[in-house]
Amino acid sequence: MIEASAPGKVILFGEHAVVYNQPAIAVPLSDVRTYARLISATGSDTPSIRIHAKDLGQDYWLHERDDRDPLALALRLTLDFFKLKITESLKLEIESQLPIASGLGSGAATTIAIIRVLTKYFNMSVNDQQASDIAFEVEKLHHGTPSGIDNSVIAFERPLYYVREETPRFFSIPNPLTLILGHCGIASSTSDVVTGVRSRWQLNRETYDDLFLAIGNVVEQSFEALSHGNHQEIGQLMNENHALLQRLEVSNTELDRLVTAARTAGALGAKLSGAGAGGFMIALVTPDQESAVKQALTASDAQHIFSTQVSG
Ligand code: PMV
Repeated sequence: MIEASAPGKVILFGEHAVVYNQPAIAVPLSDVRTYARLISATGSDTPSIRIHAKDLGQDYWLHERDDRDPLALALRLTLDFFKLKITESLKLEIESQLPIASGLGSGAATTIAIIRVLTKYFNMSVNDQQASDIAFEVEKLHHGTPSGIDNSVIAFERPLYYVREETPRFFSIPNPLTLILGHCGIASSTSDVVTGVRSRWQLNRETYDDLFLAIGNVVEQSFEALSHGNHQEIGQLMNENHALLQRLEVSNTELDRLVTAARTAGALGAKLSGAGAGGFMIALVTPDQESAVKQALTASDAQHIFSTQVSG
């Protein structure tokens, strides 16, 4: 058996505005991962790959799906990129600790785990940039017009300051952050939310351009605060970023309720993370606030509540 994995991610600052060329900051979630395993398989006349993703309820042969299927596309792009040919039938098992359609990058993590396991099987080495580039192509299926932040932070597994179409800038977080994540109970489609923002931008360009710029400013200040380990300020900036996301109309009642609950319980700051309209919120806490904030989120019906340390 051959195994590879890729982490999840959270966007700390700058989602949506990043699609409009503003900077954003994302960090990997190294302790929450997607695993891909390859083992021998039988049952196909010609060599093929049986894809078994039990969390996604998927079980089929590669040759049965076209390139609109993200798992099939990830496999084909990797085989083509490295000019590889399957000579025996294989079973690809995907197992993920990341809830799908929640803003934690499960799509990109799955793709990158697949790229890594397949290249490992062929004794090829794939570098992080190659994995990121292949995953970007698959992200287009999930997102329509992805900024590229998910595939970059997940492939390189390092804190990332990202501007679309620019070389990714990795940085260090000297003072580890304790984040609490809570899911609002609603799944959301990144592509639908991104399309909604685009329609509103087209109707009201001036207001939306100002909002994107304001988010970009928050990101710049956050980058400074993160580099200096100033957690109070990072928390304040998360609150500001959430207020701007509300004005972009990508938050909802459930996310707002969790954000308020976390702040009331003492979090330094809280915001939605990812596309919004569902999925996760994140709260920054000091270690002694952790249990009160978790309790407050539980009392507000949050799901999948967990904490994680972000450093690097
Ligand atoms: O994949 P998600 O749900 O974390 O959202 C990606 C972040 C957006 O900025 C909304 C879209 C993008 O491509 O950057």
